[in-house]
Amino acid sequence: MFHQLANWSFIIAFALDQVKAGPVIKRSLDTNAILQQHYGNDAEWYSNRIPFFDSSDEKLNEIYYYRWQIFRAHQRDLGNDYGFITTEFADDVSWQLSPWASLNDATGFHLNEGRWCRDRRFTHDYINHMFGERKGNDRHFSDYMADSVWNVYLVDHDSQAATQYLDQIKTVYDQWNDHFDMSKGLYYIEPIADATEFTISSIDASGGTGGFTGGTSFRPSINSYMYANFKAIAQLARLTSDENSAETYERRANILKNQTQTNLWNSTFEHFIDRFQVNNDYVKYFDFIRGRELVGYVPFMFDLPDDTSVYAASWSHVLDANLLGGQYGMRTNEPSYEHYMQQYRYDVVNSSRPECQWNGPVWPFQTTQVLLGMSNVLDHYNNKGDLNISQFNRLLSQYVDLHYDSNGKPNLEEDYNPDKGGAIVGLDRSPHYFHSGFVDIVLGGLVGIRPRSDDKLEINPLVDQNSGPSWFRAEEVPYHGSNIAVQYDRDGSHYGTKGLVIERDGQQVAASATLQRIIVDYAPKDLLPIDRPSAISIQLQESSAYPRGSASSNANDTTKIHDAIDGRVWFTSELANGWESDTNANQWYAIELGNSDGSAASNRTISRAEIAWFADDNTFAAPDSYTIETSTSNQGPWTAIPNVQQIKPLANGITHAQWTSLDTSNVRLSFTLPSGKRARLTEFKLF
Ligand SMILES: *[C@@H]1O[C@H](CO)[C@@H](O)[C@H](O)[C@H]1NC(C)=O
Ligand SMILES: *[C@@H]1O[C@H](CO)[C@@H](O)[C@H](O)[C@H]1NC(C)=O
Ligand SMILES: *[C@@H]1O[C@H](CO)[C@@H](O)[C@H](O)[C@H]1NC(C)=O
Ligand SMILES: *[C@@H]1O[C@H](CO)[C@@H](O)[C@H](O)[C@H]1NC(C)=O
Ligand SMILES: *[C@@H]1O[C@H](CO)[C@@H](O)[C@H](O)[C@H]1NC(C)=O
Ligand SMILES: *[C@@H]1O[C@H](CO)[C@@H](O)[C@H](O)[C@H]1NC(C)=O
Repeated sequence: MFHQLANWSFIIAFALDQVKAGPVIKRSLDTNAILQQHYGNDAEWYSNRIPFFDSSDEKLNEIYYYRWQIFRAHQRDLGNDYGFITTEFADDVSWQLSPWASLNDATGFHLNEGRWCRDRRFTHDYINHMFGERKGNDRHFSDYMADSVWNVYLVDHDSQAATQYLDQIKTVYDQWNDHFDMSKGLYYIEPIADATEFTISSIDASGGTGGFTGGTSFRPSINSYMYANFKAIAQLARLTSDENSAETYERRANILKNQTQTNLWNSTFEHFIDRFQVNNDYVKYFDFIRGRELVGYVPFMFDLPDDTSVYAASWSHVLDANLLGGQYGMRTNEPSYEHYMQQYRYDVVNSSRPECQWNGPVWPFQTTQVLLGMSNVLDHYNNKGDLNISQFNRLLSQYVDLHYDSNGKPNLEEDYNPDKGGAIVGLDRSPHYFHSGFVDIVLGGLVGIRPRSDDKLEINPLVDQNSGPSWFRAEEVPYHGSNIAVQYDRDGSHYGTKGLVIERDGQQVAASATLQRIIVDYAPKDLLPIDRPSAISIQLQESSAYPRGSASSNANDTTKIHDAIDGRVWFTSELANGWESDTNANQWYAIELGNSDGSAASNRTISRAEIAWFADDNTFAAPDSYTIETSTSNQGPWTAIPNVQQIKPLANGITHAQWTSLDTSNVRLSFTLPSGKRARLTEFKLF
């Protein structure tokens, strides 16, 4: 494919040379080939949703598309007009907010990734969940969701959607006053509620014996998150012309910035670090912790630190192999810490499996925050300390490598060993974990699309001319109601044009032979309305009364019966998802539909189905044929729906079927399997 593109560019470059007029012809990526290569039969889901990316770095490309696969796998359809949320763990975990399965600590990452999705449903349904009627932001963990709502706005420019929950957003972040120390003017949090267990503060506050809980401290994280939330609230308020609120929250942000700089900057360590809020036999209130942690860079993710050489000095620590710069990734604290990498906690089921800790392991979660902080510094700080673009490119590549498992297959888990490489926990819940970002770093950092609130498009790629990718092209990237493309070619040998080319809806709007910041006028276009088809077949939890499933075989596995109607679709071989039949040829899966509140069986109007069958190379296969039937009773008799327009059963993709709408309370999917194969029905959705 690369060679083909190169030849193509050569021909076009040649043709242009002859014509020497007009803008460069749009040379789109071969998006069908890209979709086929990365997603196979599931390509349809991605084709009108993701922006495309290609570059001279094949691993970067592979992981870019893998990250959209993670994004897709974590979209949970709640059905019944609730829409979609994004999950942190692909499957249920005991500490999620039920019945929805949301966890607010990961939402900032999800929204910052999702803002680059051309289907805006996934960010806006999710914001509705967090700040609308369901109040999904339960403050279980610290978060920077007001900031992410603002970040979504910067890309899509939908001010109505951005501001509709402003009152609830204010309420949520005002409630954090219960974690505010008036005498210090700072927020404090127990590290576990910051989604980071076993930090220096929690280990040391336990006298070195534990640290899963405890160790409440004034942390750079929560204070930066609250700073960003206040700034965002001020900006959202300004969109509604509420200047009073804007000033109030801006003042709160600035005071917090000052307190964070004054009190959490440790000039001995030249780093932002925690101070204890807890006061016990081991640690004293307002003492600094005794080492550097990666969390000290979180302030840069939100542009909190002043642009001075003082704060810029901290960058040397993550570039130093003896400090935070591990060989395989950024350490969460330094090898000099007494309890560095000491394993305290193990899986409750298998006591030889280590659990999650933050005393050294590399976390994609915080690696993302640091890479975003670096992008900010490299983009618009004068004082960069030892940081430069080639280091950013190197650390992004290191992060790319982290995504591969020991078999060289993309599979991101919770945390990694910084000195030996490899995932640490590897628990059943771990595969394709989504508590980090990547697309946002590539598009906002490397490609350099710096979203703005005014009618401008600003591009400033962070690519080192020697060590960075020698060419890239991002295309169909949504921005203020239209699509943009950003193309870079170091010497013109790949695309036929040296330097940068910026396009809007296929038309060139700017170009530069050298890498540099480009800002162009960009009048917004009307946004397309969000399309929100709503499934009526979703069972929120296994214990929910309706809708409910039943099946022809293995019907006693109620968890798997639920999995086929739980609103989750992914096709990876890790983490089985769906009901699994036995090997008898004739099988069925039936849904007893219910009221929209799930309280009782009832008739619903249906006109189409989306069916997801998993297949692998040996056990599971898509069926040879299928029929969709209805009945007035879950006992039958069953009648096939007449005149169904349906495609052939598709493995690892969505099989569509539709018919003239009808009312029914029971629907059955009957199908015939190839000899010796079992079915895994990942999802059976009705609309
Ligand atoms: C904090 O604010 C005070 C009063 O405006 C100012 O003098 C001081 O320099 C600020 N300190 C920091 C670290 O921002
Ligand atoms: C920085 O923290 C260390 C460790 O707690 C402490 O010994 C030192 O005094 C602190 N530096 C300053 C300037 O407070
Ligand atoms: C427990 O975990 C260890 C280490 O991951 C693994 O080798 C072993 O097979 C596991 N045991 C069980 C019963 O799953
Ligand atoms: C970036 O910094 C590293 C050392 O940290 C140095 O080796 C390299 O030459 C620098 N790159 C540029 C482009 O300045
Ligand atoms: C279902 O029944 C089969 C056969 O009796 C048994 O082997 C299996 O363990 C049961 N599964 C569950 C989840 O109860
Ligand atoms: C449900 O729909 C069926 C088939 O359309 C119809 O026969 C039945 O009367 C309906 N039941 C109710 C309670 O509306």
